[in-house]
Amino acid sequence: MRCWSRQARARGKTIALVPTMGFLHEGHLSLVRRARKQSDAVVMSIFVNPLQFGPKEDFKVYPRDLKRDRELARREGCDVLFVPPSRQVYPKGFLTRVHVEGLQEGLCGASRPGHFTGVCTVVLKLVNMVEPHVVLFGQKDAQQAVILRRMLRDLNVDVKVVVCPTLRERDGLAMSSRNRYLSDVERKKALAISRSLFAARELVRGGERRAGRIKRKMKETLSRGGITRVEYVAVMDARELVPLSVVRGEVLIAVAARVGKARLIDNLKVRV
Ligand code: PAF
Repeated sequence: MRCWSRQARARGKTIALVPTMGFLHEGHLSLVRRARKQSDAVVMSIFVNPLQFGPKEDFKVYPRDLKRDRELARREGCDVLFVPPSRQVYPKGFLTRVHVEGLQEGLCGASRPGHFTGVCTVVLKLVNMVEPHVVLFGQKDAQQAVILRRMLRDLNVDVKVVVCPTLRERDGLAMSSRNRYLSDVERKKALAISRSLFAARELVRGGERRAGRIKRKMKETLSRGGITRVEYVAVMDARELVPLSVVRGEVLIAVAARVGKARLIDNLKVRV
């Protein structure tokens, strides 16, 4: 991989990396399109990273379809599909972990201890293997994007980070490989997640500034939609992920909830 990148660099080409765990959907492909716009060559990595799954999480059953992914990546114009085997990413005796203090304990980190350490470790490794000029992530994983941007900056990694908007189905459901786990009934129920975010945005646009009121409205929307296992509803400063009591500046409104077997997350950014 590195050999290819160094040759491309020597020819003056700029390289973009789109790291994924595969089972590609339009959201991933939109990252590739964006990557192609700003670089000469696009590398997509597919690696279902065991280090970011907890012992009781869905690593074993995480959807995989390399044949389909390969075709989608080719059609979208990826120059390289990088699919490293696990034993090469984590050879015997691999001991190092990358941890971003303070940003990874709350929100998704609270119910998924170690998750972001796994994400940071693999992303730093992938960036070191591919040596891209730019790396692209999706806004749907808002906390991940904030943490990775900080990690790459803190460690002086010479790569530009681009975060691209969440893609939604026509009915508002945020695209995710984990939507695969939903039955038809659960999928309908899951719509309450995006509805709660749209309701929050409407409140803010209508002049509401009290985060408590906004969160209450979101919880009502979720519960009316039949979602009972809400993990968090949060209103935060979008850069520092600090909870706000009064919304102002760039605000991140986020939800995590369980629907059936799926743990779903979604968020919206609002500028006040
Ligand atoms: O967002 C994902 O799919 C993963 O967390 C990532 C960034 C590819 C790291 O495994």
